[in-house]
Amino acid sequence: RDRQHQLEIQQLTETFPMFAEVDEHSQEELLLLFRPKSASPGERVVRVGDRGDGMYFIASGAVEVQLENGAVRLSAGSFFGEMALLTGGRRTADVVAVDFCQFLVLERRDFNIFMARHPALRAAVSDLARERSEMNVAR
Ligand code: CMP
Repeated sequence: RDRQHQLEIQQLTETFPMFAEVDEHSQEELLLLFRPKSASPGERVVRVGDRGDGMYFIASGAVEVQLENGAVRLSAGSFFGEMALLTGGRRTADVVAVDFCQFLVLERRDFNIFMARHPALRAAVSDLARERSEMNVAR
């Protein structure tokens, strides 16, 4: 493996420790599947009510999840957009960039294939999604 490649894997697992758990082959696959995307401060990245096109991993910057009764800030190392993919339903909130952001997007089809092969990862993502939606109901 060349050094550049090793650095990319290392960055991936440092920023997103959840990927440290998957095998190296799958880490390499993720690097190929991720679609880079950027956003400027104030830009709406996800719109409530839309169909889910992908899951967003925040490589740098921060976003605000705008819920009916408040906002939640997410920054580098976190993710959003998993709920609509897991449920097959609609986006549950607006997500707006509050900073210059770089995202790694796992498109819906790739999400489904990858998560089907990594049940532990899927469970971790589902658990957080459940906590988030419980938090929203409680508001
Ligand atoms: P999704 O519904 O696809 O699109 C909006 C996203 O906002 C949602 O997925 C979650 O990733 C995120 N989200 C919704 N509620 C919360 C919450 N309470 N805390 C953090 N993120 C949330």
